[in-house]
Amino acid sequence: MSLHTYRADGPGLPVVLLHGFPLDHRMWDAVADQLTADRAVHAVDLPGTPGNATDLPEPALEASADAVAEVLRAAGIDRAVVAGLSMGGYVALALLERHPDLVAGLALVDTKSTADPPEARANRLRIAAQVEESGSVDAVRPMASSLVGESTRSSRPAVAVQVGEWIDQQEPAGVAWSQRAMAARPDRSDVLRAFAGPVVVVVGDEDTVTPVEAAEHLVATAPQAQLVVVPRAGHLSSVEQPADVAAALANLAQAADSA
Ligand code: MLT
Repeated sequence: MSLHTYRADGPGLPVVLLHGFPLDHRMWDAVADQLTADRAVHAVDLPGTPGNATDLPEPALEASADAVAEVLRAAGIDRAVVAGLSMGGYVALALLERHPDLVAGLALVDTKSTADPPEARANRLRIAAQVEESGSVDAVRPMASSLVGESTRSSRPAVAVQVGEWIDQQEPAGVAWSQRAMAARPDRSDVLRAFAGPVVVVVGDEDTVTPVEAAEHLVATAPQAQLVVVPRAGHLSSVEQPADVAAALANLAQAADSA
């Protein structure tokens, strides 16, 4: 587990970024660059990422959340604004459940609070076995084009190429672990419902993985949540339209500072 620090300090609460699958902290680079300089910005490379894919515990996002808490506390961070995209959002909700003292504000980006239906869970377990048996990430490689939206695919194909390169650099053991961990996660809508702090829900209007309806469910679950629908973005809104996502996170962080 490692912490990637974009900016080390500032008077506001730190922002902690949790990445999606099958990626790592780099999917937050453009957002971090566009966050204003009034606070520290860190991204966590979750269990399963390159360099963090050996000695893994039983696959469980609870282990990821505990690892996030450990790496934050080791860095002297005891309260932060936490933003998670997709799998990062599942981990953020597990963090909120297990380490609520750490979470001052929550950004749920292209994600959902519900568990997988049985067929999605079975599909994850099948892919995990395939990745492990083949010793390659080929089974998740096609995600590079489905993660980005139609507008990005057609007008900026280099973005999907970049995402594909990031996927190619993942380790099969880590990819299999993350799939199994996501398959095992419970519905955490109640955890979100019980959170009283500021929340922003961000979704690309072309997200086909966790579509706008999933974001609306999050907003219905956390009535204090602001909904930000990002135009011309798919599931990787942080990569496709970083300025919009950075603005949403900056507003959330300001609300958390003064809460
Ligand atoms: C992600 O972007 O993290 C994945 O799409 C999450 C998932 O497979 O549910």
